[in-house]
Amino acid sequence: MNQSIPQLPKTRQVLRGISELPTLPTVMYRMMEALNTPDLSLKKIASIVLEDPAIASKILKLANSSYYGFQGEVRSIEHAIVLLGTEAVRSLALGSSVFNTIRCPADMSAVDTAGLWTHFLAVAVCSKEIASRSQICEADVAFTAGLIHDIGVLALLCLYPSEYCQIMEEAEAGEAPFLQLEMQAFGLNHQDAGAYLASCWRLPEILQSSILHHHGHESIEKGKLEGTIYLADKICRSTHIGWAFTSTDVEILPDEIIRLGASSEQLDEVRCFVQEGREFICEFLDNIG
Ligand SMILES: [Fe+2]
Ligand SMILES: [Fe+2]
Repeated sequence: MNQSIPQLPKTRQVLRGISELPTLPTVMYRMMEALNTPDLSLKKIASIVLEDPAIASKILKLANSSYYGFQGEVRSIEHAIVLLGTEAVRSLALGSSVFNTIRCPADMSAVDTAGLWTHFLAVAVCSKEIASRSQICEADVAFTAGLIHDIGVLALLCLYPSEYCQIMEEAEAGEAPFLQLEMQAFGLNHQDAGAYLASCWRLPEILQSSILHHHGHESIEKGKLEGTIYLADKICRSTHIGWAFTSTDVEILPDEIIRLGASSEQLDEVRCFVQEGREFICEFLDNIG
């Protein structure tokens, strides 16, 4: 667990709450294990996915969405693995499992849930684009990391709906920065909460690290994936795709792009791609939940 989290009584209570949230479906662990086993046959991976028909059908729906360009063509899980690759299929399985496991309270009228979900998806798409255009890191891993980078928001929203809604409203009204408001209320922020949840779920360390550092300027030094998620999150918030977590403008500093190893031309291309991709982000959103 993250040693930097202060152990205040409230913080301990929050961490206990997080550790008691439901765990991911068993099939997800079997799949993560299988994908780390060299030379595992496509048939074997497909058979593991098919142990959970709900996840399998969600993967098929997502694989057939316009984002991947195979609308209606993906007929089976094996076919999805061939067309999309194992990492992309794992990403879709993990994304749908995470968002089905952490269910927010029914009465969320005070929160722009559509905006929130759009942000998660847009950061996933944007991270993948940065990774594939600049080859900074593996594109499908970047998609997964982008998709789940804010799971701490969902965890805190689930555990403390009224307090957290108030924090979101205050941040949007510009009363104080979002992370500061979270720290004041819980003694930790959603990066800490998300990374702790990811460690409870035994997600790969690289995903835990990208969750923990996605708002820190130092993330660029932490690693290529962490820096990619940091930049993607800023791009989406600065272009107002989905909820922005702030009322003030989000600025991307030129040295951040350079230090990550990308170019400003690539950044502009990614920005255009994500802006033009609002339609498939919405379609993806309809299918994943
Ligand atoms: Fe965040
Ligand atoms: Fe974010």
